Amino acid sequence: MTDILAELQRRRDQARMGGGQRRIDAQHARGKLTARERLDLLLDEGSFEEFDMFVAHRSTDFGMETDRPYGDGVVTGWGTINGRMVYVFSQDFTVFGGSLSETHAQKICKIMDMAMQNGAPVIGLNDSGGARIQEGVASLAGYAEVFQRNIMASGVVPQISVIMGPCAGGAVYSPAMTDFIFMVRDTSYMFVTGPDVVKTVTNEVVTAEELGGASTHTRKSSVADGAFENDVEALSEIRRLFDFLPLNNREKAPTRPFFDDPARIEPSLDTLIPDNPNQPYDMKELIQKVADEGDFYELQKDFAANIIIGFIRLEGQTVGVVANQPMVLAGCLDIDSSRKAARFVRFCDAFEIPILTLVDVPGFLPGTSQEYGGVIKHGAKLLFAYGEATVPKVTVITRKAYGGAYDVMASKHLRGDFNYAWPTAEIAVMGAKGAVEILYRSELGDPEKIAARTRDYENRFANPFVAAERGFIDEVIQPRSTRKRVARAFASLRGKRLSNPWKKHDNIPL
Ligand code: HXC
Repeated sequence: MTDILAELQRRRDQARMGGGQRRIDAQHARGKLTARERLDLLLDEGSFEEFDMFVAHRSTDFGMETDRPYGDGVVTGWGTINGRMVYVFSQDFTVFGGSLSETHAQKICKIMDMAMQNGAPVIGLNDSGGARIQEGVASLAGYAEVFQRNIMASGVVPQISVIMGPCAGGAVYSPAMTDFIFMVRDTSYMFVTGPDVVKTVTNEVVTAEELGGASTHTRKSSVADGAFENDVEALSEIRRLFDFLPLNNREKAPTRPFFDDPARIEPSLDTLIPDNPNQPYDMKELIQKVADEGDFYELQKDFAANIIIGFIRLEGQTVGVVANQPMVLAGCLDIDSSRKAARFVRFCDAFEIPILTLVDVPGFLPGTSQEYGGVIKHGAKLLFAYGEATVPKVTVITRKAYGGAYDVMASKHLRGDFNYAWPTAEIAVMGAKGAVEILYRSELGDPEKIAARTRDYENRFANPFVAAERGFIDEVIQPRSTRKRVARAFASLRGKRLSNPWKKHDNIPL
């Protein structure tokens, strides 16, 4: 018996060595952790249960039959994060560059199937040279099996991808179909075709970093939701994000103990809005002052910063926040900000996370680049997402809510549950200057008349009371009591039941 136990231990030790000490050292020399070290940091200590440690590939081409390392380049299994279950896979770059073979794919599919069956999220740590070249189409088939599961799992269990090394070719499409993608600065790349192919086909000379590094994907393409300095920071931030999320679409997000009075009054908010309506202020200050313990998990902060998205907690419960940011492009909606917020609203709705919308929006950004880029269709994404969402929706208009953007930003008419406004709110078709120039074009030569008309318009429309008279605003609230009012509103909505008519699925303007 002891011999058998020793044999088991020997095999386990061998599996844990992946591609061998030399390749592990090379991984460390690049500032990267190994697949197993990453799982140790991601999961609660001692919670990891591994599947398929002894799986090996079955390829016989290119002399592969003589090189069949245990695990086949990916470590899979389940564990817990702060006691809550999660399925994980972590690609091992030391084994054939973490490339995906038929059996490697089968291991990933197995834990994805388990995650779906048992209702727990999937976190994938990606570090892979893509399709296992020696396996050809078997590897492509393996990818497609993973893709199909990503699609089926979408909206059922949260899926998070962390890119911790190269991620090339079709390999980027599995992460692309997950809910969140994070990257590690300077060591991770994502591209459909690498710099060499780009050079051959288009003659463009570009580095891997410029083409698909963390900066590119968090600032330009918006493929990634965030980037971290190194593996350790990335994994600890993923743990923090995980704590905001429910395990699946039938469960609520967890409630965290909170030590922040839900009725906390913030007198400083009474002066957040500057006297000059064209002067910006930082909407993040409001988010932090409303949130439990000022804790805000922001997503996509380096992309389309004219809109802010992320998670806070109120009375310990997760709330998704969407907020216009007057500091960037005056907070207007455009193609990028609409896409960014729409996807987030849909994530929240899919996983029953209530949505708080903070509005200060002068309208949609005008211009040919926006129109040619399809702002009509992209803006409609956000409109559609808000309108179809059935989760509790609480909206606070702090200042401007002009034109179509008023409608879009979780207005009463899109089934907003509580629509509050600060006394500083201005709810109108457009700002006073623009409106007067259109209505009184013939008087434009007379500055005095125009000034009087502008004052008139401001008195009539630059306030929340016209909308409140009609019941489009449920209540005009004091800025200082925003946390209290919003927290009570969400508390009253905990039993909300609302469903959309039966359909196979909708046809959101993609
Ligand atoms: C098999 C691979 C491999 C692959 C790397 N290796 N990629 N083995 N299939 N796709 C092996 C290498 O042979 C090497 O083995 C080890 O992994 C480390 O690779 P290096 O090249 O030494 O590392 P590095 O210099 O860091 O470069 C990493 C890399 C590069 C950028 C990922 O290896 C690379 O470009 N690989 C090919 C990428 C690629 O074109 N993949 C196919 C994409 S197409 P040894 O034994 O020396 O340690 C695709 C289609 C999917 O994925 C379609 C789905 C729809």
